[in-house]
Amino acid sequence: MAFALTPERDRELGEILGRYPTKMGACIPMLHLCQEQNGWISDEIILYVAEKLTIPAAHVKGVVTFYTLFNQKPVGKHQVWVCRTLPCALRGADAILHHCEKKLGIHAGETTADGKITLRTAECLASCGTAPMIQVDKDYHENLTPERVDQILAKLQA
Ligand code: FES
Repeated sequence: MAFALTPERDRELGEILGRYPTKMGACIPMLHLCQEQNGWISDEIILYVAEKLTIPAAHVKGVVTFYTLFNQKPVGKHQVWVCRTLPCALRGADAILHHCEKKLGIHAGETTADGKITLRTAECLASCGTAPMIQVDKDYHENLTPERVDQILAKLQA
């Protein structure tokens, strides 16, 4: 079945469109709506957004491939982002990432076999004062230790 936003999200899109002088301005918020619904941005969704906003599909594709927060392939139920920029790196981000990889049995960029967790790396998530940190879906977990990471991952795997 062809992709389409749910009626509720379509109404939300209508409100979003009212905030911008041109339809192109709504590209990123519309992509967020689509990803919220589908989990990732497929080529079909790129065409849907382009058609709905009457902008070139190449523009939409450019946005999707530029911002790492848009998933270009299916992802797990939860996404774990490990910040690896300098402040986090100086406070052990590498060890946190390796700990996650070992615990989950996957590398960064991969999804666990049960489809529950996708492990990603991120550039600065603006929480440098509480490094090292990770983002799980929309929540931050800060001042991490391997023990704390174990608790967080166990909760996601339950
Ligand atoms: S460097 Fe990790 S939050 Fe800024």
